[in-house]
This record gives sequence, structure tokens and C-alpha cells, in this order.
Amino acid sequence: MKKEKIKNKFMKEKVRKGTKNAKHSIIVKEPSSIKPFINKIVVGDAEEVLKLIPDNSVDIIITSPPYNFGQHYANDPTQDTKEWNAYFKKLSLIWTECYRILKPGGRIAVNIQPLFSDYMPTHHIISYQLLNIGFLWKAEILWEKSNYNAKYTAWGSWKSPSMPYLKYTWEFIEVFDKETHKKTGKKENIDITEEEFKKWVYAKWEITPEIKMKEYGHPAMFPEELPYRLIKLFSYKGDIVLDPFNGAGTTTLVAWKLKRRFIGIDISLKYCKTAIQRIKKESTQHKLFDFDNNLKFDFPFPELVTLEELRGKIL
Ligand SMILES: C[S@@+](CC[C@H](N)C(=O)[O-])C[C@H]1O[C@@H](n2cnc3c(N)ncnc32)[C@H](O)[C@@H]1O
Repeated sequence: MKKEKIKNKFMKEKVRKGTKNAKHSIIVKEPSSIKPFINKIVVGDAEEVLKLIPDNSVDIIITSPPYNFGQHYANDPTQDTKEWNAYFKKLSLIWTECYRILKPGGRIAVNIQPLFSDYMPTHHIISYQLLNIGFLWKAEILWEKSNYNAKYTAWGSWKSPSMPYLKYTWEFIEVFDKETHKKTGKKENIDITEEEFKKWVYAKWEITPEIKMKEYGHPAMFPEELPYRLIKLFSYKGDIVLDPFNGAGTTTLVAWKLKRRFIGIDISLKYCKTAIQRIKKESTQHKLFDFDNNLKFDFPFPELVTLEELRGKIL
């Protein structure tokens, strides 16, 4: 018989009170009040839009918030530069809404890069915020971008231990669960292959950064492969995928391709229009939906709405 490496393992697990045993199935009835949000790209502030979404209604949130790096986003008077406390306060309010709207068993995956030059561990602070709200920690995925030509060449104190500056070629993806680590779903709605599963559970993902940012007119997009893996690994076909910082719509495009329902939110009308265009282009290319002739196929028609229009519809 194999000898146990750790003696009294189960008793010790009880003492530690981790969340290993939070693996019960919770069957959730989707509220019908989510219908007005389905397959919508919503122009508005994430916090305000999320407040309108019903409790326990979304299966998975995949997002990459503004990093506070000073990017030039359209419609952003702050130029992506806030005092750090104000930045984290706003994010915390958004995560609180995310927790409320996720179904039990739902997941949130946050792609984030700390601002190393400010010595600000953004990924740790966001993880701590999510834990405090009540999320269960699931995983940390390293997105290896292999961008060895990263712009900065600063070494800090060259050849001296006084203040060396470390370089990173990867970003982080923090994954959390709501209430239970188990997500229920029908077997026939699983679409991950054996090969994909074996490859992706190894939590270091080598994915080339998005190269078409100029074409889409957005300065900080993630590549399609990133939400593609997250969606297939952590959700079922037909699930509702939401991105509160949807930008040029990478998450919603991939969700659409993978036959998930979707909700995308961004404060910029310009980016929301791009998000719609990308789905439109993809669907006409593959003749899945002929927008111009308005032919009806069994594919969701993405629709652009403003926060005010949504308010009008549901209140
Ligand atoms: C890192 S980008 C996301 C890019 C996206 N993952 C993509 O692939 O296109 C962050 C986005 O957050 C948006 N944003 C900033 N503040 C916001 C807010 N309060 N509510 C909603 N969107 C916001 C910006 O316009 C920007 O598009």
C-alpha cells in the first residue's frame, strides 16, 4: 500500500479550513429578467450597467480592466491615470456587482498586469479584493507573452544589488469561483477536447499578444486565444459570458463563435461599435448571418444599446 506522505492529512485539512470541500453542485434557475441583456453590447459605465443586471444570472465573467497605465482610451478624461486608492475603490465596487450577478458555481477570470515601475502589485490587490467579497480562489494562470523585446530596457542598478529592476514577459489571469468550485452543466454542452484539456490545465499559457490593435483602433486588447481557452475550460455551450470592460469586443466575439450567449460593456461608444462590427464581419464571412439581407439563422444577433436605453426597457 502507498504510504501517505502527510500523516493525518484530512484532520489537518479540517484545521486549515481551506475551500477544498466547496464542491457541491448548485442547480440554478436562470431568471427571465436577464433576457433584455442577452447578446447586447452596452455603452456605459460598468458599475452602472452591472447594477441593472439581475442577481445570479451570469455564468462566467472574463475581463481585463484598465490597468491605470496611462493608455489613451477613447472617452477617457482620466487618460487611464487615477490615484491608486481611487482606482482600486472603483474596481472593488465593480467586483461586488460581479459577485452578485454571477450564478453560484459561476467564475470570474481577471487578466491583469501590475505597474511594476510604480511597485504596485495590482494582481495581488485585486485578488485580495475578490477574496474579501467572498469569492473562492480557483487559479492563477500565467500568460506568457514571450515579448523579450519588451520596450523598457531599464536594469535598475546595473550589476549591483542596490536596486535591480526585474523584467516580466508575462501577465496574470486570476480565476475565482462563486460559492462552489463545481459548475453544473449538461454533458452535451461540453466542447473542450481531450488535447485542449490536457494542454490548458497546465497553468502557463504561451499566447502571442494581439497584433491587430491598430486595425481595431484599441490600444490594449488581449488576443482571441485568451478568452477562447478560458471560455472552453470554464464554461458550457449556451452559458452567459460577460465582460464589463469589453473594449473592442474580443470576449464577446469569441463567446459568439463558441455558441455562448454574451454581454459586453464598455464606456466607449467607438469600441462598442467595433465589438458589433467584429461579430458582423465574422458572421458574414462564414455566412452564418447575412446582416444586410437580414436572413434569419440560428445565431444571436448582437445589438448595441446605451445604459439609458436599457434603463428604459427594464425599469
Ligand atoms: C484593457 S481594455 C479591455 C480590452 C479588451 N479586453 C479587448 O480585447 O478589446 C479596458 C477597457 O475598459 C474600458 N473602460 C474604462 N473605464 C470603464 C468603465 N468605468 N466602465 C466600462 N468600461 C470602462 C476602456 O474603454 C477599455 O476599452
